[in-house]
Amino acid sequence: ASANIGVVGLAVMGSNLARNLASREGNTVAIFNRSYEKTQGVLDAHPEAGFIPASTYEEFAASLQKPRTAIIMVKAGAGTDAVIQALTEVFEPGDIIVDGGNAYFPDTIRREKTVRESGINFVGAGISGGEEGALLGPSIMPGGSDESWVTLGPILRSIAAVAEGEPCVTHIGHDGAGHFVKMVHNGIEYADMQLIAEAYDLIRRGTGKSPAEIADIFAEWNTGELESYLIEITAEVLRQVDASTGKPLVDVILDQAGAKGTGAWTVQTALSLGVPVSGIAEATFARSLSSHPEQRAVAVNLPGPDNAFTVTDEAAFIEDVRLALYASKIVAYSQGFDEIRAGAAEYGWNIDLGAVSKIWRGGCIIRAQFLNRIADAYADNTDLPVLMTAPYFAEVFTRAQEAWRRVVIAAATAGIPAPAFSSSLSYYDGIRADRLPAALVQGQRDFFGAHTYKRIDKEGTFHTLWSGDRTEIEAEDTH
Ligand code: 6PG
Repeated sequence: ASANIGVVGLAVMGSNLARNLASREGNTVAIFNRSYEKTQGVLDAHPEAGFIPASTYEEFAASLQKPRTAIIMVKAGAGTDAVIQALTEVFEPGDIIVDGGNAYFPDTIRREKTVRESGINFVGAGISGGEEGALLGPSIMPGGSDESWVTLGPILRSIAAVAEGEPCVTHIGHDGAGHFVKMVHNGIEYADMQLIAEAYDLIRRGTGKSPAEIADIFAEWNTGELESYLIEITAEVLRQVDASTGKPLVDVILDQAGAKGTGAWTVQTALSLGVPVSGIAEATFARSLSSHPEQRAVAVNLPGPDNAFTVTDEAAFIEDVRLALYASKIVAYSQGFDEIRAGAAEYGWNIDLGAVSKIWRGGCIIRAQFLNRIADAYADNTDLPVLMTAPYFAEVFTRAQEAWRRVVIAAATAGIPAPAFSSSLSYYDGIRADRLPAALVQGQRDFFGAHTYKRIDKEGTFHTLWSGDRTEIEAEDTH
């Protein structure tokens, strides 16, 4: 036994993670893949890594020091269960199985419970950063037991990205906490991407600028408060010219966005937790809307505004869009953190929201300057009930809210869809409202279903006898 860590599953993410592990002082890495051919390929391509190959699970287990630690990097789903089962058979109590895929957190909770019965530790770890992150330093969100963290902590710290001198990994919480947080990370990623796409669309249609010119705008934005990986790569994508047609690549890519499910999980989970992640939901739905060509083909004839969309002061409009993007982005993150807070309460995880914001500063897809501001907000107040009310963010809204409204108005007037911009603004106005028409909804519910209501002026639960003499009676609380 000479390896301190093993990797199962050698597709790109797995082999890159294995190479990353092998490149760090003190690690010797065992590798295993269902078909040995792939293992041989990785061995041949990376002799410098000093990998210890195994052709069976028994050999793999024998090559690992105790407590044995293995990271599974296979496609999420049934394949993961098969690998866990195989490892459980050759591992011993105290050993650690890590699932580094994008697993759905209820699956992780279930797997952890099952594996625990054999005395083996099961850790669901979210890993973000794509192929490059896996190789050079991802952001890692591990769940699982405290016992597993003792062994796993130093190994994961050795390969994680580093932001402001700190490794982008922290023990998120028990069982499925890591995959839960990774799920929300992806939901925020969807919102961030959709907001950027809306900003691009508005600028393009409002000013007639070319994708390459808009790339310059994004590159410029990336030097300020919007600085982030997604803004940076947006400029690169917009600048790309298609070799076969000579057109901007963005103009020849089919406008139907795909999704592997993590955004939808974030929204489904938020719905059951009662957390309004409207920005993430709109971003997820926008992908769905785009991916129904048969509907779009018939709806394309529906009427829109007559007048062409032209912006008179281009510079002012672009600045408005930048501010609208920033304000909407703050809403999306605030909603995402709200979901993590609610998930932690529901599942009994002790999640440090400030620590989550810190490990997202490097390595992951949503890495951004402004995560430092989120970290500051939670450092000032760990129990902040609504992230976007922190003083720094409140100041941004003071600067941005009028621009944000102008952009949403312009989009609606011009007939340009801006679902994430406008729903974020509605959330903003909803959460800050001193009184909401929810009162009327309560009245309606009481009318047709005797669902009762509470009053602003006295304790208790009430019902109006709508089909009788319409007097009010005290009633049992039915919610
Ligand atoms: C990451 C990403 C990654 C995700 C892709 C694809 O953090 O590295 O979130 O885990 O799988 O971004 O997501 P969609 O195919 O759903 O867009």
